Amino acid sequence: MPAHRKNSQQWFERSQQSLVEGVNSPSRGAAVYSPGPVFLERGQGSRVWDADGNEYIDFMMSFGALIQGHAHPKLVEVVSQTMAQGSHFAAATSAEVKAAERLRRMVPAAEVVRFTNTGSEATMLALRLARAHTRRTKFLKFEGHYHGWYDPYLLNAHSHAPEQLGPPENPTRMPDSEGIPASTFDDVVLAPWNDVAALGRVMKQHGPSLAAVITEPIMANMGCILPRDGYLQRLRSLTQQYGALLILDEVVTGFRYAPGGCQEYYGIEPDISTFGKALGAGFPVGAVAGPRPILDRLRWSENMVLHYGTFNGHRLTMKVAAANLDLLAADGTYKKLHSVGNAAISGLREVFSRRKKKAIVQGFGPMFQIYFTERDAIHDYRDYCTYGDTQLYSRFVHRLLDHGIYMTPSNGLHWIISTAHTEQDVAALIEAADQACIDLV
Ligand SMILES: Cc1ncc(COP(=O)(O)O)c(C=O)c1O
Repeated sequence: MPAHRKNSQQWFERSQQSLVEGVNSPSRGAAVYSPGPVFLERGQGSRVWDADGNEYIDFMMSFGALIQGHAHPKLVEVVSQTMAQGSHFAAATSAEVKAAERLRRMVPAAEVVRFTNTGSEATMLALRLARAHTRRTKFLKFEGHYHGWYDPYLLNAHSHAPEQLGPPENPTRMPDSEGIPASTFDDVVLAPWNDVAALGRVMKQHGPSLAAVITEPIMANMGCILPRDGYLQRLRSLTQQYGALLILDEVVTGFRYAPGGCQEYYGIEPDISTFGKALGAGFPVGAVAGPRPILDRLRWSENMVLHYGTFNGHRLTMKVAAANLDLLAADGTYKKLHSVGNAAISGLREVFSRRKKKAIVQGFGPMFQIYFTERDAIHDYRDYCTYGDTQLYSRFVHRLLDHGIYMTPSNGLHWIISTAHTEQDVAALIEAADQACIDLV
């Protein structure tokens, strides 16, 4: 650990006495941040400060949750006022009604909403609903897509060496976790993403027995991989053809690219949508939304789809979510998110080209990722596993940390632009990237 992170080092030594790996998720620990994580103590707007008082511009933004940046004044006010009146009642509240109404205004496919506490809970519930609604058990997930840590989704969500992947038409099935019965995956059909021909084949074979196909609209857990033109539309029509529900997992993309997320941006109407992250602007919340005939299966009855939760519709969180959505719905929000993000992307491209680094910046507007690669584009999981130099990316980001840019060194994540980021932040990023490229090998 460099001398200017002495306090982080001390906290890390201490944290390992009480917390596994010193953190609460392996993606935050020494496996990603070498030799140990930076302990962050304070955030304001686009900035964070660590335990040694070092200042950084934050481009990770809590894995995308902080769409309004840190400590947005309006949200601070909402939190203090709400807290003074009681944070949660686990009873019916006007707060949850208002949050749901605002969500529905932004997402046309959301006829009704059920709030959860995390994105993982939302995707769990979406699958249970799809199975109940269709009376089918199998579902299709794509290689490299992450939908939270629920057992059946944990198949090929991590990257692997190319020689382990098997042929695309019959991918080697690799669970991401110990402790999951192998039988859990009997109901999972695994397919490559972004390939219309492969999709046609797999749907022909399995479509009639699928309860659902779940997809991220933009792959956000192998960096930032865009759908090829027409791919999501084809997925929509094939799921309809075979009577499988389309679960669009907008946990990352929701409220980020457009008020109505990627479904608005790409013009597709899913059967079930899942949200999280940006919905709560830093508070833990998720949502499942869709048409009444599907969501109504949650109504109390002998045949209901069960979904309980002490903290569902948490009052404080609902107040924050509603205020956050109001802020996002204001004129110009998305224009600014896109223009600041696009400036960062073009500035980074210019740095890599001038510094003669084989790197691409993929994505657009509020979310993007850098890949050190000889390729012109990364189109799917297999490209990511085969062509991206993730070690070089990690070294690059570690250098950026020393130049006042906070980001995760994991290439599987992505850069986030919040409403708090400014052109000055972008200029500082570009300057830092330029410095970080010197002698980078
Ligand atoms: C696409 C996607 N779905 C679901 C989840 C799970 O959300 P959470 O971490 O809030 O449980 C994530 C988390 O990163 C995600 O990226």
